[in-house]
Amino acid sequence: MRMKRAWIIGCLLLAVIACQGCKKQQEEPESTLLYEDEIEDSDNYIVVGFAQVGSESDWRLANTQSFRDTFREDKGYYLLFEDGQQKQENQIKAIRNFILQEVDYIILDPIVETGWDAVLQEAKVAGIPVILSDRLVEVEDSSLYTCWVGSDFEEEGRIAGRWLKAYLEEEGRADEEIRIVTLQGTLDSSAQIGRTVGFDKILRQQENWTMLDRGSGDFTLTKGREVMESFLDLYDDIDVVVCENDNMAFGAIEAIRAAGKTCGPSGEIIMISIDGTRAALDAMAEGEIHMVMECNPLLGPMVEEIIQRLERGEEVERVQYVEEQYFDASMDLERIMESRTY
Ligand code: AHR
Repeated sequence: MRMKRAWIIGCLLLAVIACQGCKKQQEEPESTLLYEDEIEDSDNYIVVGFAQVGSESDWRLANTQSFRDTFREDKGYYLLFEDGQQKQENQIKAIRNFILQEVDYIILDPIVETGWDAVLQEAKVAGIPVILSDRLVEVEDSSLYTCWVGSDFEEEGRIAGRWLKAYLEEEGRADEEIRIVTLQGTLDSSAQIGRTVGFDKILRQQENWTMLDRGSGDFTLTKGREVMESFLDLYDDIDVVVCENDNMAFGAIEAIRAAGKTCGPSGEIIMISIDGTRAALDAMAEGEIHMVMECNPLLGPMVEEIIQRLERGEEVERVQYVEEQYFDASMDLERIMESRTY
């Protein structure tokens, strides 16, 4: 297969060279020949195409870095990286580009769960294994992807809910009316679905908890702030804000401050976040966040291990969860920060 790939790339390169004269007037092509410089050596690399969601959050940047650090040329990989800019259509285009270039493996971090059947069928027909990372897809035919590596999003939501219950008990507020709002991630993404479902499972067991409202902040600071501003306009009695990622929590904190309110252990509003990036632990150390449930972005090495097994013709586990823990303001944050890389 790698021989055929080199031949196709050679033809594409000739076509690109032949078109140089007429290309000046045209816009850049949407599908670029991404590894033309390495053409002569392409058979010596394992070529991996990574269709990433975007760069919407600190978590995402750490996740991208993990793949860049793992799939390095000196380790025998050639990584084709495509940033989907939080649009499914861009990710689909990237996958088609990878198929055209006959990569050896496709890694897909799907922005949403639905709408992948057709393009994954094309990858299957081309004989290219697809490894899902971080988020999942919902497809009719489960053989359209080889395996999935990521977080137990539902458990993340449950842990956040259980933590809130224990905290309210410690604070002597177990029987108080507790009013909650949630800043949700990108709707229909596995991270949003799982975290919402997980937290809801705990919420339903507490008669005195009310979910006042939920809104999607699309996992970004700006939209998180906008949604929080609208909640603060609508409700003046919010006790708890659950943020389905750190960047939305940063936006929510800005909105709370701008409204003249406070959050964190010595403030009025209980602030819960998910991701556990350094910036969130800093905000916790500064007294603005109560609890952060970790979502581990360091998935590159786990995906590499899968690729190595597939290269040796070995079976791989269909589902692999990454290890995670939670942090709260009562912990020794300085010590925790020392060992964190993102
Ligand atoms: O899918 C993982 C989520 O996506 C992370 O919580 C979030 O920060 C990212 O954008």
